[in-house]
Amino acid sequence: MKKREFIKAAIIAGTGFIVGNISGRLTKSGKKNKKVIAVNGSPNENGNTAYALSIIGEIFKNENINFQIIHIGQNDIRGCIACMRCHNEQSVCVHTTGNERNWIESMKSADALILASPTYFGGMTGSMKSFLDKAFYSSSKYFRHKTGAAVVTTRRTGASMTFEGLNQYFTINEMPVASSTYWNNIRGLTVDDLKQDGEGIRTLQNLAKNIIKMI
Ligand SMILES: Cc1cc2nc3c(=O)[nH]c(=O)nc-3n(C[C@H](O)[C@H](O)[C@H](O)COP(=O)(O)O)c2cc1C
Repeated sequence: MKKREFIKAAIIAGTGFIVGNISGRLTKSGKKNKKVIAVNGSPNENGNTAYALSIIGEIFKNENINFQIIHIGQNDIRGCIACMRCHNEQSVCVHTTGNERNWIESMKSADALILASPTYFGGMTGSMKSFLDKAFYSSSKYFRHKTGAAVVTTRRTGASMTFEGLNQYFTINEMPVASSTYWNNIRGLTVDDLKQDGEGIRTLQNLAKNIIKMI
């Protein structure tokens, strides 16, 4: 089975993975392609946050960046219960199984991590926070020194608080943060609305270019 077919099958099997540009592992100069992994905290796999990430993906495609998106989706994700067992279990959160464990493993292999979430009552989604608390508490040492970037979607307001919340995971963990020409937010109720937000689109495009510069 070819890699692309395998990935399609994996999506159908509900692993929550979608892979963007996987073409070519080596650049023309023989260097390994850089890998960026985005975590999409939306329950909607084809929603506004996915669209925001696709804008970034378009820029990455031009530079042969290997871009993968982890969709938290509608998985049942519980929060960290402070059992501290990850300290004794080789940094593995024993309360993550299947998808979640695989997501954390793949995040370790990235050159940059994008944390993307819709705004829910002025913050990231509950599933996103539940996942990130466990991922970063158990495995932060593997993420240290990777470039980090936060991406936020809103219908209207609360983006700054969501943005701040996502950035907390980077700035406590020696992760240089990629920024843009505005705070990384695109807004509207539907994808069609987002397509009208020219400044939001430019902000995400500039963010992608800056991530490329940093990695
Ligand atoms: C439970 C819930 C809470 C929300 N809270 C806010 C909010 O505080 N501010 C806002 O602008 N939009 C809010 N929204 C709208 C979403 O943030 C917005 O539609 C987002 O773009 C959806 O992204 P998605 O399509 O990727 O899920 C909320 C939506 C839901 C379902």
